[in-house]
Amino acid sequence: MDTATAIRHIVEVGQFDRADVAALFAAADRLRALPRGSDLLRGYLLATIFYEPSTRTRLSFESAMLRLGGNVLSTENAREFSSAIKGETVEDTVRIVAGYADAIVLRHHELGAAHRAAAVSPAPIINAGDGPGEHPTQALLDLYTIQHELGRIDGLRVALVGDLRFGRTARSLARLFRLTRGSELIFVSPPAVPMGEDVRAELAAAGVAFRDEPDLAAVLPEVDVVYQTRIQRERFATPEEYTATRGIYIVDETAMARLNPHGILLHPLPRVDEISTGVDADPRAAYFRQAHNGVYIRMALLCRVLGVPV
Ligand code: CP
Repeated sequence: MDTATAIRHIVEVGQFDRADVAALFAAADRLRALPRGSDLLRGYLLATIFYEPSTRTRLSFESAMLRLGGNVLSTENAREFSSAIKGETVEDTVRIVAGYADAIVLRHHELGAAHRAAAVSPAPIINAGDGPGEHPTQALLDLYTIQHELGRIDGLRVALVGDLRFGRTARSLARLFRLTRGSELIFVSPPAVPMGEDVRAELAAAGVAFRDEPDLAAVLPEVDVVYQTRIQRERFATPEEYTATRGIYIVDETAMARLNPHGILLHPLPRVDEISTGVDADPRAAYFRQAHNGVYIRMALLCRVLGVPV
């Protein structure tokens, strides 16, 4: 992004190039080093509108805003407790909220909702997840975590594990790897939820190597990153389809014994049972550090969309 306004809305990772990502990571590092009591965003107001549940994304955006001296308006169950229940469209909602706040973080259950909101919103829209579509800020914090943990984002072998069809974090992260060099993605998913053809086509066009591998145990010794994901009950049409897909890939202490000693285990969280709690103390289990990195990346993104230099 050449100027602060080049990415006014953040709706998908396709908006970012390598230089954007490097600048964002550098800004996040500077913000990480700020003392408490910063007033970089004093006078700015952020609205968080969430039509789907969230712990990390909403609270880390709000933490980022408050820690930089800004303020927050929030509706955490907009599907039920906003005028959506009366039939208001997301387009009308953001038109209104854009008059109350300087930027809007939006999570919505419908694919493409963030694009629709961005098309009409006078205030910057940040996509915090649109159904099974994208979760760009999560992917950026995931790649930032890889940079922090391993010291590089190039030349990595990465296993994306679990629900790669509906999992918007895995989709966005895979797309972001088109900006890296010499990487290989390994898709480890139950047959019912493979990585989408749209993402595969984009990776192929960018020259990123990828393959499917159903045997997680076989790939663990050879990968630098395992990106485990939850099988999302809420995305399946029937409980039977969910039950048939869950529980296939579990990372437990036995799996960690097979993982490359220099590898890391990531997860966007929340987890259900796809990572055993017995793994948490392993230094290669980086998912809690990953979640905390979200505050710094989201600080940097807020500064970017609000045009505040870091
Ligand atoms: N990773 C993530 O999006 O978590 P939340 O659903 O808690 O925001």
